[in-house]
Amino acid sequence: MSDERMTTTAGSPIADNQNTLTAGRRGPVLMQDWQLLEKLAHQNRERIPERVVHAKGWGAFGKLTVTADISRFSRARVFEKIGKTTDLLIRFSTVAGEAGAADAERDVRGFSIKFYTDEGNWDLVGNNTPVFFVRDPLKFPDFIHTQKRHPRTNLRSPTAMWDFWSLSPESLHQVTILFSDRGLPVAPQYMNGYGSHTYSLWNAGGERFWVKFHFKTLQGHRHHTNAEAAAVVGETRESYQADLFGGIESGRFPRWLMQIQVVPEADVGRFDFDPFDLTKVWPHALVPLQDVGIVELNRNASNYFAEIEQAAFSPSNMVPGIGPSPDRMLQARIFSYADAHRYRLGTHYEALPVNRPKCPVHTYHKDGAMRFFENDTGNPDAYYEPNSMGGPQQDPSVAEPPLKIEGVATRYDHRLGNDDYAQPRALFELFDEGEKARLYANVAASMGGVPEAILERQLGLFAKVHPDYAAGVRAALGLAVPVPA
Ligand code: NDP
Ligand code: HEM
Repeated sequence: MSDERMTTTAGSPIADNQNTLTAGRRGPVLMQDWQLLEKLAHQNRERIPERVVHAKGWGAFGKLTVTADISRFSRARVFEKIGKTTDLLIRFSTVAGEAGAADAERDVRGFSIKFYTDEGNWDLVGNNTPVFFVRDPLKFPDFIHTQKRHPRTNLRSPTAMWDFWSLSPESLHQVTILFSDRGLPVAPQYMNGYGSHTYSLWNAGGERFWVKFHFKTLQGHRHHTNAEAAAVVGETRESYQADLFGGIESGRFPRWLMQIQVVPEADVGRFDFDPFDLTKVWPHALVPLQDVGIVELNRNASNYFAEIEQAAFSPSNMVPGIGPSPDRMLQARIFSYADAHRYRLGTHYEALPVNRPKCPVHTYHKDGAMRFFENDTGNPDAYYEPNSMGGPQQDPSVAEPPLKIEGVATRYDHRLGNDDYAQPRALFELFDEGEKARLYANVAASMGGVPEAILERQLGLFAKVHPDYAAGVRAALGLAVPVPA
């Protein structure tokens, strides 16, 4: 027996949590049973909107330990010196499934990291892939519509997916990763993470560098085939939660090697493609990887809803020394996430314990729903800015260096002059014969019911990557090889 007394939310001790208050033994319930009313009302409010994408997720807390000095690239306190540790939270996710989706489904995985740095939260909201399906944010909602349920059938639609992809050659790189072995990891510990976009770092001297972030699994890559995944899902829909949560509970702390690729601001000319294009990687031979540190997860959340479901990651959470790049996808994401959080969690979502920075917060924002926390400026008279009341002030020493841009404002065709085939080809050529055969089979397995005209259009794109790619998928589909004209 506990010696803690059960109470209402207002702290009043509860005498009986088994029996409602009724008029007579069999009688109706009295309106004055406020304990029953409170319990039912709370239950009705236990759900919030799920994330519009990446709804199913798994997460844990841990730390980054810096093992190499990169302070020449960035003044960010997180990279201050070798041995520096910073607390962090990672939430992994699938993109398309709802909150109750099975874990072992083929899909891109989200890999979101919140670094609780000394100068505010830095969120790196990436995926387990270094590239993405589209390169222009105007296409993101359309793309997501093809991944979610069809409005009439309420089923996922392979026709919509392949229709969109076959009309969007920039998707080929990510599509090839998705249907390769890495498209279905065994659990989050066994996959890499990537910041994916190009970001910028800037140092204490005001010099800017372009950067890509990589997190290489130290558990080794492990993947399911489609058949293995079907068997797993037949047993449990929660294989990732069980593996990640259980592993951490039993002291098996997953780790990743954090690495960066860096080029000085002026060196963008070394690329023969747009280095801010999210459908491209920076080849390692062109820009080698450098170590930064080790990321480790070592603590499970004590309440999943409070700490993982209510976690709010946003590419707009940047700190001095780390900034965006001109990547148009990243620019749109800087708007989209905080907007989503205000809708999903409410105005003051950053004050929730999981999102609250571990450094002082002094804003002049006021009031609003659930204004429950202390974010005062430290002085009740200083509630506007500028003031002569000693309130917090801007600090020009953390200003980002100016960015040189040029050009004419118009809607530039992002497909013009872009090679969508060379990098998927480089990836295809990395695969051994077994990997290629599984790629063909995985693609074909996802194309059930897709009209032939769409299949042929997609096979035409695969052929531009590599003739073997198209021929392999065609054979896996059981389609006749077209006679050359
Ligand atoms: P490298 O040979 O130097 O690197 C190959 C990269 O491919 C490694 O990072 C490896 O990851 C990764 N890889 C291996 N198998 C797969 C797979 N099935 N799905 C996704 N990634 C895989 O070559 P380049 O840098 O010249 O790149 C060649 C191709 O490799 C690219 O076109 C791209 O598709 C892919 N790639 C490149 C990355 C980059 O940042 N340059 C990052 C990830 C993929 P690991 O080291 O963990 O085994
Ligand atoms: C989640 C928008 C591209 C990775 C989300 C959410 C939105 C969104 C609205 C839900 C946020 C929430 O409710 O908490 C967009 C838009 C994009 C885009 C508008 C393009 C213009 C990308 C890309 C990546 C990515 C390119 C990876 C490189 C993620 C991840 C999550 C997420 C990992 C889950 C975050 C979490 O764990 O809470 N996205 N997204 N998204 N997105 Fe994107």
